[in-house]
Amino acid sequence: MSSALLATLGLDRNPRVVQPNAAGSINSENPSNGNVIAAVSIDSPDAVEKTIVDAESRFRAWREVPAPVRGQVVRAIGDEYRRLKKPLGELISLEVGKIRSEGEGEIQEAIDIAEYAAGLSRTLSGPVLQSERPGHRMFEQWLPLGPIGVITAFNFPAAVWAWNAMIAAVCGDVTIWKPSPMAPLTAIAMNSIADRIATAMGHPGIFKLLVGPDAALGAKLAADKRLPLISATGSTAMGRSVGQAVAQRMGRSLLELGGNNAAIVTGSADLDLALKAITFGAVGTAGQRCTTTRRLIAHESVVEPLVEKLIAAYRTIQIGDPLGSGTLIGPLINAAAVAKYEAALKSAKDQGGIVVVGGKRPQNLPASLSRGHFVEPTIVIAPPDNNLPIAREETFAPILYVFTYRSLDEAIELNNSVDQGLSSAVFTESLRESERFLAVSGAGTDCGLAYVNCGTSGAEIGGAFGGEKDTGGGRESGSDSWKAYMRRQSCVINAAGEFRLAQGVQFG
Ligand code: UN1
Repeated sequence: MSSALLATLGLDRNPRVVQPNAAGSINSENPSNGNVIAAVSIDSPDAVEKTIVDAESRFRAWREVPAPVRGQVVRAIGDEYRRLKKPLGELISLEVGKIRSEGEGEIQEAIDIAEYAAGLSRTLSGPVLQSERPGHRMFEQWLPLGPIGVITAFNFPAAVWAWNAMIAAVCGDVTIWKPSPMAPLTAIAMNSIADRIATAMGHPGIFKLLVGPDAALGAKLAADKRLPLISATGSTAMGRSVGQAVAQRMGRSLLELGGNNAAIVTGSADLDLALKAITFGAVGTAGQRCTTTRRLIAHESVVEPLVEKLIAAYRTIQIGDPLGSGTLIGPLINAAAVAKYEAALKSAKDQGGIVVVGGKRPQNLPASLSRGHFVEPTIVIAPPDNNLPIAREETFAPILYVFTYRSLDEAIELNNSVDQGLSSAVFTESLRESERFLAVSGAGTDCGLAYVNCGTSGAEIGGAFGGEKDTGGGRESGSDSWKAYMRRQSCVINAAGEFRLAQGVQFG
């Protein structure tokens, strides 16, 4: 089954794809059944060096191509992703266990960002500013930055790279991608499609890939002065070390790290709407999104009926083969993730939390999935004093912690009380409550993403995506995130025919 898929995506002919367990390779495992799909060869230190040197020279050529022409290349890449959306989505399901609709949704996200970047390629612009000197013109221009490094996590093995690489390409940059060692096949498929299309249009070598088994490769890229920007998505611990290494050499980093996202449900909320959004937010992608809803903060007047509805919904959720029809939750990525889920639940119970649904590995799966890393989606009620330290940590698993509040300010304080600051949501029918949550004074939610009557996960590509505090502060994808991939130049032209200093300074 998977060999036909690999052939459709050209992976059977790709020199990087080798026999399982080959020397100098990493296996890509299907988390639903533990089977090895294929293995991928690891890039040697020599290959890493060659890639960076080649990226520098490709950059010098690519930056000379007018941005709208670069946009046409990106548009054609998006068209190819559209043509291959189904097999690419299926590969994601096989490699990281996303259900079919979410695997395809991720490719749709790559298509969307390619379209967005193609349009953007005609509008990359800076302002003309007013000079205090007669006959002088002052303006800003944005210039290509260089070869850049992009480090991505297993949970969005295609889309997050595309957010970076499609925008970077229209900005005139060359991308060197270090994907998660847990999803190398998706990376090879996505990158080789981009490279094939760009090469056919006369621009080889602007999308590069480096595969390595551990953090050493990421650390090497982070320390390399030739890469003016490192964009990294993953854990806060990883981002902290990448960010420090990049800062040490005065480079620029774009960090999109952990989240610990809450949904506040007020007394006025439409509970059926909230129920759907919270269920998708907490259970979707088996709780392995950085935007996953991990905390529910519900008003005391609605917490009981809401939790009852959630429990009933959780009981109907089908766990199983991500490619099976009707499945809503696939496996976690590996055995270590299951161990973390179990450890978090043990801590929660030790700290006075009560598991009201889920809490273990599912018992009734077919034998074909017995080696898969499945867990039940779980709800834990915090003790009455809301003191549940484990809920301050991001556990990449479908665990939802429930807190009860009385005043909205108390709910917002709880929302903001964690180290992470990625996504947040309020469910309310009250203008006052939603305005409090979004207050322009900044007294509301402290997160980079703030939603009213939408779940914490599932952002569109048009907005700037990212968050504050331990989430790292970076912004990717839409809005003016493109500025991270270019360098700004403030320019002044004197056409007055005489020399004049600013601030009225006289000299000689
Ligand atoms: C991530 O989990 O790293 O908003 C990104 C969302 C997706 C992106 C998640 N569009 O849930």
